[in-house]
Amino acid sequence: MSESLYIPESATKVEKYEAILPQIEALITGEPDLYANLANISAALKEAFDFFWVGFYLVKENQLVLGPFQGPIACTRISLGKGVCGTAWQEGKTILVPDVDTFPGHIACSSASKSEIVVPVFKGGLVAMVLDVDSDQLDDFDEVDQEYLEKLMGVLGSQL
Ligand code: SME
Repeated sequence: MSESLYIPESATKVEKYEAILPQIEALITGEPDLYANLANISAALKEAFDFFWVGFYLVKENQLVLGPFQGPIACTRISLGKGVCGTAWQEGKTILVPDVDTFPGHIACSSASKSEIVVPVFKGGLVAMVLDVDSDQLDDFDEVDQEYLEKLMGVLGSQL
C-alpha cells in the first residue's frame, strides 16, 4: 500500500476526484476491517478537499451512531428521519443541502457548518451507514460531489 495520497495541485474538483478515487479504492480493497477503511476514506477525503467535517454514521440498533471521521467533535447518535443524516437514511438517497439553515430539522453539530451532503451506503438493499460531509461555505457541494461520492460509497457497499 502506498503511504501517501497523490493529489494533483491546482486541479479541478473533477480531476481531484478522478485522481483520488482509484487510490482510495486500492486502499480499501482487500482490507477486511471496516473501521480501518472508514478511517482512511475520511482522512483521504479531508486531505484532498479540506472539508470542514467528513465522516460516517453507522446504523446500529435503529439509530445512526458516529463512526470514524475527520474534523471537530460531532453528535454521537441520530434517530431515523432526524437531521440530514437521518433523512438520507430514511429515504435511502443522497441529500444535498446548499444552506443548512433552510433544511427543516438540520442537526447543527457545529455552527460553522453551512452546507452539507449525505450519501447512504447500502448492504443487501438496506442502508448500513451514511457518509456525511460538511462545509463551512454555503453551497459548496454539487452534482459532481454527488456523482463521485456515490460511486465511492458504491464500492464501499459492495465490500460490506
Ligand atoms: N448535520 C448533520 C448532523 C451530523 S454533523 O453535521 C457531523 C445532520 O443534520 O444530520
